[in-house]
Amino acid sequence: MSFDPRPLVDVAVTVAREAADLVQRTRQAAVTAQVDTKSTATDVVTEADRASEQLVRDRLAVLRPGEPVIGEEEGGSAAVEGLTWVVDPIDGTVNYLYGLPHYAVSIAAQLDGVSVAGVVLEPVSGRVWTAARGHGAYLDGTRLGVSGANRLDLSLVGYGFAYRAERRQRQATTWAALSTRVRDIRRAGAASLDLCAVAAGWLDAYAEHALGRWDWAAGALIAAEAGAVVRLPGEDPELGEDATFVATPGIAEDLRTALVECGFGSV
Ligand code: IPD
Ligand code: CA
Ligand code: CA
Repeated sequence: MSFDPRPLVDVAVTVAREAADLVQRTRQAAVTAQVDTKSTATDVVTEADRASEQLVRDRLAVLRPGEPVIGEEEGGSAAVEGLTWVVDPIDGTVNYLYGLPHYAVSIAAQLDGVSVAGVVLEPVSGRVWTAARGHGAYLDGTRLGVSGANRLDLSLVGYGFAYRAERRQRQATTWAALSTRVRDIRRAGAASLDLCAVAAGWLDAYAEHALGRWDWAAGALIAAEAGAVVRLPGEDPELGEDATFVATPGIAEDLRTALVECGFGSV
């Protein structure tokens, strides 16, 4: 009998709801307290990021005892074989800091490094994006499908910047070049939600370098299950060793070619 990942989605949703609730309840205190920084002065981490991750770890330890957890704030390593939980306790922390309501809790289960179940939950709207491998992607229970876009010049494409200034400069040059070849580009500030937006057809594609596993583990599964072409970091070196690329099939090849021509592979 084949493995059914759907019960893992239920666990992820239960835990993500509790984490999202904590993130909302503590926002005022978290953004007025000391806000620390990580890789650069603009890469922030709040008390709520840490508390959310701790809550997820504690709850998974009860609901799924013994299974390893990788989280953005505390790290951890994947099981060589078997199931690992991958957690971004707040994706879109800069938005959270400013009160821009576009951020999420992202939890995925990976089997041998491959996402099999995932949830991206938005604390402000309460929207719940889910997928189980082989069983489709859903927004609040409604099945998702990617857009039918088939012209690159009429496509809406999401992107993101790395925190390091030098790399950001090179990324900006690439995206400026691409901006004349598509309908428009969007930088919304939460990678997990960019991936969900492709799943819903709210974006036709999304690409970014240097994502962490926690950024894409749930969202990329949701996009794939909605029918997107998905290239994870390491899978398509011509786009750059650490590129994530997600697109509706009708424009995927043309967008990939355009990105390469615009220098995306060497940012
Ligand atoms: C960031 C967001 C952002 C993306 C960055 C991520 P964080 O995650 O997803 O949209 O451009 O690459 O690091 O730091 O808010 O969890
Ligand atoms: Ca993130
Ligand atoms: Ca985060």
